[in-house]
Amino acid sequence: MEINGKTRTCGLIGNPVEHTLSPMIHNTLAKRFGHNLVYVPFPVESGRITDAVKGAEALRLLGLNVTVPYKSEVIPCLREVDSLAAAIGAVNTLAAVPGGFKGYNTDMEGLYRAMTAEHIQIADEEIILLGAGGASRAVAYLCAVKGAKRVYLLNRTVEKAQKVAEEVNRSVERQVVLPMALSDFDSLPERKFLAIQGTSVGLSPHAEDVVIADEKFYARVHTGFDLIYSPWETRFMKLVKESGGRAYNGLKMLLYQGIIAYELWNEVKVSEEDADAVYEKLKAHFH
Ligand code: ATR
Repeated sequence: MEINGKTRTCGLIGNPVEHTLSPMIHNTLAKRFGHNLVYVPFPVESGRITDAVKGAEALRLLGLNVTVPYKSEVIPCLREVDSLAAAIGAVNTLAAVPGGFKGYNTDMEGLYRAMTAEHIQIADEEIILLGAGGASRAVAYLCAVKGAKRVYLLNRTVEKAQKVAEEVNRSVERQVVLPMALSDFDSLPERKFLAIQGTSVGLSPHAEDVVIADEKFYARVHTGFDLIYSPWETRFMKLVKESGGRAYNGLKMLLYQGIIAYELWNEVKVSEEDADAVYEKLKAHFH
């Protein structure tokens, strides 16, 4: 594709943005579709998110992704917010609408699509979720909305798990999220669970860290899904596998959050063949 007078621009706003894989996702898709579009990183300094969004509006950017630390801070700058993103309180994708941008949360839809692609079910499942930070809060909400039977929310600080559980339960009007202390995993019902790792513990370069190291915990896990994708295999994933479970990293979540954003911006449907091609490219980055 040649950049010319009709090229549309998309990008990522956040701080830092140097290590992002999103340009690889979007520029690969643009090439496969033959769209005249480029995707570039835009580092935004602290305190300048409103200016950045106003600038993007004035420059008629087609769309933006939003990353740390602006996923919540960006919300007051938007013309509209999608209902899932509003309930979660975090936006990672902006799409141009008349008079400004509409905010979406494709991280959570991306996680859902990644799990579906791996045949991991949420509806009617009993799920263990580790952590009660921003990411885990969003996952708890996703599980509740997608019909999980029960979410055991395990956190080091139990008060934080209680707060998230209250918020999510109130929002979906059923008692689906049950807060617990990490150390109380022994009191979980005697059965195996899907466990989602939603903290940043174990992220490179601290690849040896893990929220729970006790192998008794992993005997309760049939499937482990870590939101982390760097390192390729976290210690959490290793421990799940060592006790006979299946384990997945967060790279497909990253892939699908990007694909859903691309679909919103360009009003297209990305085929599984195109998704696979982008995934292989992302994967090559880690091997
Ligand atoms: P976010 O999800 O908002 O990005 P995060 O910093 O990635 O936040 O993760 C915060 C979560 O990781 C919290 O659940 C935190 O537990 P506390 O609420 O008890 O602080 C959890 N966490 C961070 N370090 C941890 C550790 N060493 N052991 C256990 N949990 C930890």
